[in-house]
Amino acid sequence: MSKGKSVFRCTECGADQPKWGGRCDACGAWNSLTEEPIRRTVGRSDGRSVQSDSQTVRLSDIGTTPLQRWRTGLAEFDFVLGGGIVPGSVVLVGGEPGIGKSTLLMQCAARLESQGVSTLYVSGEESPDQLRLRADRLEEDAGNIHVLGETRLESIIHHATQLKSSVVLLDSVQTTYTEELEGAPGNVGQVRECAARLMRFAKESGPAVVLVGHVTKGGGIAGPKTLEHIVDTVLYFEGETTLDHRILRAVKNRFGSVDEIGVFRMTGTGLEPVANPAAAFLAGRSTGASGSAVTALMEGTRPMLVEIQALASKAGFGTPQRVATGLDHRRLALLLAVLERRGGLPFGNLDVFVNVTGGVRLIEPSTDLAVLAALVSTVHDRPVPADALFLGEVGLGGEIRPVAGVERRLAEAARQGFRRVFLSARSRGTSGDLEVIGLEGIGELTRRLAA
Ligand code: TYD
Ligand code: MG
Repeated sequence: MSKGKSVFRCTECGADQPKWGGRCDACGAWNSLTEEPIRRTVGRSDGRSVQSDSQTVRLSDIGTTPLQRWRTGLAEFDFVLGGGIVPGSVVLVGGEPGIGKSTLLMQCAARLESQGVSTLYVSGEESPDQLRLRADRLEEDAGNIHVLGETRLESIIHHATQLKSSVVLLDSVQTTYTEELEGAPGNVGQVRECAARLMRFAKESGPAVVLVGHVTKGGGIAGPKTLEHIVDTVLYFEGETTLDHRILRAVKNRFGSVDEIGVFRMTGTGLEPVANPAAAFLAGRSTGASGSAVTALMEGTRPMLVEIQALASKAGFGTPQRVATGLDHRRLALLLAVLERRGGLPFGNLDVFVNVTGGVRLIEPSTDLAVLAALVSTVHDRPVPADALFLGEVGLGGEIRPVAGVERRLAEAARQGFRRVFLSARSRGTSGDLEVIGLEGIGELTRRLAA
């Protein structure tokens, strides 16, 4: 421990503690305190703080000009942002290493440049030579982008000001540091201060800033949670690095709606927006096999169709296995118990595997019915109708409950060629062209699927 003045700052909530402890007193997180030097004051506050250049203004006196946005032309990216990049805004793109953050930023920069929006791509992770190699792989012409290999914030802001860049892309916020603070790049204080300074720069000088943020093992953006409070928009880039689909998800957006997702495919020439995202995860579905059922999720305002696969096979010795991928294993245990008690299907000596294809995670309970259908189908080794969609939440009594947003989900399913839907008998709303099979409880489901 150093003798110099320092505090212990929580990487979860950003609270300062005078001494180290295993647990943050403010938010209760364990093992989150890291030592940070106390900020050197730069002698600004004394005397000047009483004067101010800022002015107050009445809300009604502010003109209502529609929000200007720069469309990148990368359709799914623009969609997630709510229509494009807003001048003067700060966007944070978080994601695991290798997921494609740098590629995404480079493609955005290239597309903006081709529309005459000047960009500066700053990298603290790759040299300009490496950036050139990356750019050469892309379909976009990235030749006009200004690149800079720099990690010092003051210098980055200087260059951005000199070039009058409209969009500054910074890869990454964890490799950037400011001279005003002691401590290595990437520590909580540095990350937070750099983000705050860039936010001020964006608001005062007008360029948009797009930041890359690394993600910790826990899934959060490395550095304090407060980073997410500082910026205007937080996007997470996710997906299995082994699969080629990538999902860009808005978790915070001051200029658009949250929970919207965009779907991309990683190709040999960069990221490609998926033209029909609703059906992106259904590609490769084998319709004749047992143990497969399709449901419709809501991702923000968009319905997405996903396939759930189940496989039950005779267990060997010991406790039968329960393996769930893309689904909470407790939810699976619950559904198996309901199916056993209310549906009369014994799973006691069967290993059960459930898998959501495409690396999607099921969060909504509205997908329960599809999980049950896949399970029933694998136990009887009988495929469910290939043109059927399953939509419903299952209760402990075996009852099937209606879900929200049925009409939008069904409209999308009809567009993708589905012809019938199994849902709660109590569901309301029109079903469009789909044949509706209303179910009261899971007994009816097992009977229907066995018939
Ligand atoms: P990258 O953008 O470097 O990821 P991140 O910045 O999030 O760490 O991209 C990572 C992967 O994408 C890398 O394994 C190579 C692959 N890739 C392609 O498949 N096609 C391409 O055109 C490019 C540029 C990268
Ligand atoms: Mg990178």
